[in-house]
Amino acid sequence: MDVPKRSLLQAGMFLLVCFPACGPGRGVREQVPGLVTEHAMVVSAHPLATEVGVAVLRDGGNAVDAAVAVHYALAVVLPWAGNIGGGGFMVMRSSDGTVRTLDFRETAPLAASRDMYVNDAGAVDTAMSQHGHRAAGVPGAVAGLHAAHDSLGTLPMQRLIQPAIDLAAQGFSLTALEASWLNGALPALRSYSTQNSTYDERAHWSVGDTIQLPELAATLARIRDNGPDEFYALTTADLIVAEMQRGAGLITKSDLVAYRPVWRAPVHSRYRGLDIHGVGPPSSGGVLLAQLLAAMEPMDVQGAGWQQVATVHRMVEAERRAYADRASYMGDPDRVCVPVAALVDSAYVHRRMSDFDPRRATPSAMVEAGVPVEHEETTHFSIVDAMGNAVSCTTTLNGRYGSHVVVGGAGFLLNNEMDDFSLAPGAPNAYGLVGGEANAIAPGKRMLSSMTPTIVTRDGALFMVLGTPGGSTIPTSVFQVLLNVVDHDMNMQSAVSAPRFHHQWLPDAIQQEAGAIAHSDSAVLARIGHRLVVRESIGQVDAICVLPDGRLEGGADPRGDDAAGGY
Ligand code: GLY
Repeated sequence: MDVPKRSLLQAGMFLLVCFPACGPGRGVREQVPGLVTEHAMVVSAHPLATEVGVAVLRDGGNAVDAAVAVHYALAVVLPWAGNIGGGGFMVMRSSDGTVRTLDFRETAPLAASRDMYVNDAGAVDTAMSQHGHRAAGVPGAVAGLHAAHDSLGTLPMQRLIQPAIDLAAQGFSLTALEASWLNGALPALRSYSTQNSTYDERAHWSVGDTIQLPELAATLARIRDNGPDEFYALTTADLIVAEMQRGAGLITKSDLVAYRPVWRAPVHSRYRGLDIHGVGPPSSGGVLLAQLLAAMEPMDVQGAGWQQVATVHRMVEAERRAYADRASYMGDPDRVCVPVAALVDSAYVHRRMSDFDPRRATPSAMVEAGVPVEHEETTHFSIVDAMGNAVSCTTTLNGRYGSHVVVGGAGFLLNNEMDDFSLAPGAPNAYGLVGGEANAIAPGKRMLSSMTPTIVTRDGALFMVLGTPGGSTIPTSVFQVLLNVVDHDMNMQSAVSAPRFHHQWLPDAIQQEAGAIAHSDSAVLARIGHRLVVRESIGQVDAICVLPDGRLEGGADPRGDDAAGGY
């Protein structure tokens, strides 16, 4: 377990082969080989979580069983985003073609109120919405995992949690990325948690250090023994409430007892003959992806070329309009009426693009509405089992290490998902963006998300499973990876590895990873009115593609510690 990637390779779990290039289009760089397996695959943000999921699949578990095990493992080995103190969304496709989506998004505590982050001077207090006890929404992860398992799982829950308990109890070795992020988070973890935890027992963590999480192991063992009631009504619930009382937080036992995950209708759309299955509100992801794809359908994207001026320009103009719609119309569908069918209707999207000018950018000031923002530290995993069932799951604490509050005596981090609400509708938030009334805070309401777990089918057969973290950049990352495969003929790994760009209406700028758009093309885009800024990496996509011969090709994002595994 010390050097996870090597141990997987030594175990012979990987069959690394280069899938032959199928004629990548204009502008496409050399294809990057991905893992190809015969039967089943897991791609997640951590090699140890991938290993746990593959072992479940080898034991005869299905994709949902593996998803539960991977999620619990990530709660241990990926503390900055994996969680039991957060929430997420899952898309499940059974081999008979049935698609189900599960919303286990957090909710606002019953004591939350619309202006709870607005101070006496009328300004939004983003420090409070992003850190500490009042930033936390009521967690949905444990309820969601157990709901998915109750409906579709086959192996006993105990078998699926045990690997996570073992990892927490025996310890695991920190990767360079984890050590560096943990060191960066230590001051905030110390400042916002009311009791010491294992995370801050050292002044400095180094790559290869073994970290043991005994309190988290004990919490997971209680969940193993008592089921989800443990988290929402029994000892763990009491520990959460005690933590809230010590830190002047809002979550009460009534909030925990009342929490329910919700099965919701998938958002379905089509693109070039493919069927795209995603999640609807309270995530904006499925709707945004459907809008973006519909906006590209009339264009010969392949002929225009990858990251070429015409392609980037149309993608950005589609993104600008879709994100403006997001702010106006989207929120918790149990509280506001979200016109999903109208928004994803291709005739509507084409009308929306009717003022698209291929020769110049449309200033965002001329596109109406506002947009809320999310933080970018989420995590995604994709799974296909040997029976052909698939799971696409995105889950989050919101910010890196969430609220930075470790529940005393329970050893897990709470989310800071309250910051995904519009903190003061109409007012600019920390990123200079504005949010809409539909996403205003209300007791018990779910905050708007951008998570975009997606399953793509072709002629009724599984074709792709994908998703990513990245806050507001999630839908555009999924969008680009889809176009990379469908229009630019990239293999899965190349499509994931390729540099990305993003536009979200406000700020009115194309954010790009270094080198994502060639210098000469950037100059042309600037001349037609776009502002371009270079930023840190965008997203961390983990994806699986079913090859024409039925084998599976993984795309594990090199931007993180992500790993594909299978057999
Ligand atoms: N917190 C990120 C999202 O829900 O989109």
